[in-house]
Amino acid sequence: MVNTTIKTTKSQETFAAAQHLMPGGVSSPVRAFKSVGGQPIVFDRVNGAYIWDVDGNQYIDYVGSWGPAICGHAHPEVITALHTALEKGTSFGAPCVLENVLAEMVIDAVKSIEMVRFVNSGTEACMAVLRLMRAFTNREKIIKFEGCYHGHADMFLVKAGSGVATLGLPDSPGVPKAVTRSTLTAPFNDLEAVKALFEENRDEIAGVILEPVVGNAGFITPDAGFLEGLRELTQEHGALLVFDEVMTGFRIAYGGAQEKFGITPDLTTLGKVIGGGLPVGAYGGRRDIMSMVAPAGPVYQAGTLSGNPLAMTAGIKTLELLQKPGTYEYLARITQKLADGLVQIAQETGHPACGGNISAMFGLFFTDGPVHNYEDAKKSDTAKFGRFHRGMLERGIYLAPSQFEAGFTSLAHTDEDIEQTLAAVRDVMSSL
Ligand SMILES: Cc1ncc(COP(=O)(O)O)c(C=O)c1O
Repeated sequence: MVNTTIKTTKSQETFAAAQHLMPGGVSSPVRAFKSVGGQPIVFDRVNGAYIWDVDGNQYIDYVGSWGPAICGHAHPEVITALHTALEKGTSFGAPCVLENVLAEMVIDAVKSIEMVRFVNSGTEACMAVLRLMRAFTNREKIIKFEGCYHGHADMFLVKAGSGVATLGLPDSPGVPKAVTRSTLTAPFNDLEAVKALFEENRDEIAGVILEPVVGNAGFITPDAGFLEGLRELTQEHGALLVFDEVMTGFRIAYGGAQEKFGITPDLTTLGKVIGGGLPVGAYGGRRDIMSMVAPAGPVYQAGTLSGNPLAMTAGIKTLELLQKPGTYEYLARITQKLADGLVQIAQETGHPACGGNISAMFGLFFTDGPVHNYEDAKKSDTAKFGRFHRGMLERGIYLAPSQFEAGFTSLAHTDEDIEQTLAAVRDVMSSL
């Protein structure tokens, strides 16, 4: 299927040429639009809440580079700070003051973090945190939840949510069975299942890792008592609780999901927003655990470009912008307007649907719901989502190209953007 109402000749040419150069024509799978059909648009530039493609079409963007663009793309203050930093060089491979500044900001903001290590992606952060969990507890097994994504490291590629689900690969070939044998899984929001795993694997479980609000199986919130229950169970069994806040960190609250829900994990992973659009990840937590990381301790982890001055600069400036009064109130207000509108219009136009939002993260499922876990999410009408996605694209609205991805808003989205989006939603849903 190709776009019918907008001209996308250059996008199609570019994507066709890319097929011969990169697997699937992309640098990361979900960009290829496999689960919604049709071809991706090829971006030329981004600014504020908008994208322009190589054919000159403009879109309102609800992907935000998959999360980092919470202040809007190419925020002028971030760009200016980057220009200044650029003059001093792009990478030091040595300690720099900017690392201290961002580390202090992260430690001040995120309750569980007493010390932090910067890396280059969310994948790296999760990979490193797993090694640390195992080293600290001297245990090998971990519990993750179906539909949660923690990057593409071998031991997490078990029931790993959107990208993997989109391709219909439950696990990836090439992942040794021996590696994933230590990865136990439970349905999200199912405390009894977690309890049973702890009983069956006494003194063997290093910890539990989860997206405290799931974004990689669509948008799924924790039921009342779920996070509290995990905190209690992990403590009871001498295991660690790890919040993967790569997506939720600085997005659903300045202090992340742990601030929003008042639960303090032992360790936290971060990414996306803290890099302000440059490649950054981080992991941090209790001082006694983090003190095991090399060179303070024996748990090895390193990175040539880690803590580089450009990424630190974009992160610092982004967090400064987020600290301004009213930021999260604004994000919550416009996002709720969008999320409420999506569900209301779906219902008015006769489509079973449910959804919601917390602050600047939202979702819509084409199923009656409620959606408590990935199995529930999979009841969604994905073919309908594909048609919806294409219809929205043709009307200048760029949504994440999968039913199983959360959406993101930013400080740059205006009431007019939301209203224009909802008008397009009504138009498309009326004709689905
Ligand atoms: C919750 C979560 N953890 C980890 C990752 C991996 O981060 P990255 O893509 O930066 O490697 C992602 C990416 O979307 C994520 O959403």
